[in-house]
Amino acid sequence: MKKTHIKHILITGGAGFIGSHVVRLFVNKYPDYLIVNLDNLTYAGNLANLKDVDQAENYKFVKADICDYESMLEVFREYSIDGVIHLAAESHVDRSIKDPFTFAQTNVMGTLSLLQAARESWSGDWADKLFYHVSTDEVYGALEFDDSLFTETTSYDPHSPYSASKASSDHFVRAYYDTYGMPIVISNCSNNYGPYQFPEKLIPLFINNIRHGKSLPVYGKGENIRDWLYVIDHARAIDLVFHEGKVRETYNIGGFNEWKNIDLIKVIIKTVDKQLGNPPGTSDHLITYVTDRAGHDLRYAIDSTKIKNELGWEPSLQFEEGIAKTVAWYLENQEWMDQITSGAYEEYYQEMYLKR
Ligand code: NAD
Ligand code: DAU
Repeated sequence: MKKTHIKHILITGGAGFIGSHVVRLFVNKYPDYLIVNLDNLTYAGNLANLKDVDQAENYKFVKADICDYESMLEVFREYSIDGVIHLAAESHVDRSIKDPFTFAQTNVMGTLSLLQAARESWSGDWADKLFYHVSTDEVYGALEFDDSLFTETTSYDPHSPYSASKASSDHFVRAYYDTYGMPIVISNCSNNYGPYQFPEKLIPLFINNIRHGKSLPVYGKGENIRDWLYVIDHARAIDLVFHEGKVRETYNIGGFNEWKNIDLIKVIIKTVDKQLGNPPGTSDHLITYVTDRAGHDLRYAIDSTKIKNELGWEPSLQFEEGIAKTVAWYLENQEWMDQITSGAYEEYYQEMYLKR
């Protein structure tokens, strides 16, 4: 394909939670870019997340597996890709404990296949090229219950098969700069929350369970701490890093917003009950302490001073507002949730793309 737009960007994993927000932001904000969303539509990929932008002139969807090197090469050629924002991954820690092979395959081999396809296609002409790898704070391991934070220079110390696979992929991405000179940039973000998150993750799972009067499985004593960031603030940060980040740099992205799980769960219960018009305390009895996650990291907390000082990024939304918006979105979009829990969401691709 000849260049039809000033930039041709490949966004992988764009049918997932964070990827769909990044695709939406780029398609709307940059009409002069071509946005190619490449996603294999695993259980976590849902094209219904992109219904509002999938008819845009500057948007294309490609169903492909990042592990399939020949297909990646073909996509680079077909769409004259000059920038990559790589989000496709297996992302759920509990699944990685049950099935580590899939995580090594997708997150390590898939990233390597994409890197190699970029290297082969760009063949040493790095001008205006960038491979941006979206990663996680979990690569840094776990913090104690103190005031320490993960910085960009914190040593890697992953504990779960998920974080080990993401750490490995980060190392491969840096190796492609150090060895071949490919322009790369990496960001490591804390826990995201917001619309379109697959309901295996804590916040959407618990909102849906409360709505249906189902129990809320709290791992261990509920004392683990996470740093929560509204997903649209992460997408804004990705936009900034892609356009203004320095090559070979790492940027930590976080909310300076730490919550002990059990305290967060109480906020979720209170917010859902309030929005459903239930008397306060109605759903408190749903809390059920269950066996802890194996190797459950105690605490994550990100120091995002660098991206604030160098790129001027800060979270725009206060947590109270973000969680109220998030609960409202899930309650108002029950059909989206029901299509996932019934499995019907997988048919959207068939309707949209195969029967055209
Ligand atoms: P997600 O599970 O919601 O979405 C992942 C997407 O990748 C899905 O659409 C899926 O179909 C696609 N995918 C999976 N395997 C693929 C393959 N082999 N080929 C092509 N596509 C494939 O994940 P998410 O929560 O949106 O996370 C996106 C990225 O951000 C991941 O790399 C994750 O490690 C990272 N991250 C997530 C968080 C978070 O809180 N969710 C925080 C920091 C970093
Ligand atoms: O820190 C960034 C990471 O955040 C991302 O890289 C991952 O892709 C993303 O899934 C998320 O990982 P977590 O394991 O922190 O998220 P999860 O929503 O699975 O769990 C949040 C916390 O809640 C964690 O301490 C485990 C706990 N939990 C989770 C579930 C699903 C429960 O107590 N009960 C549950 O049912």
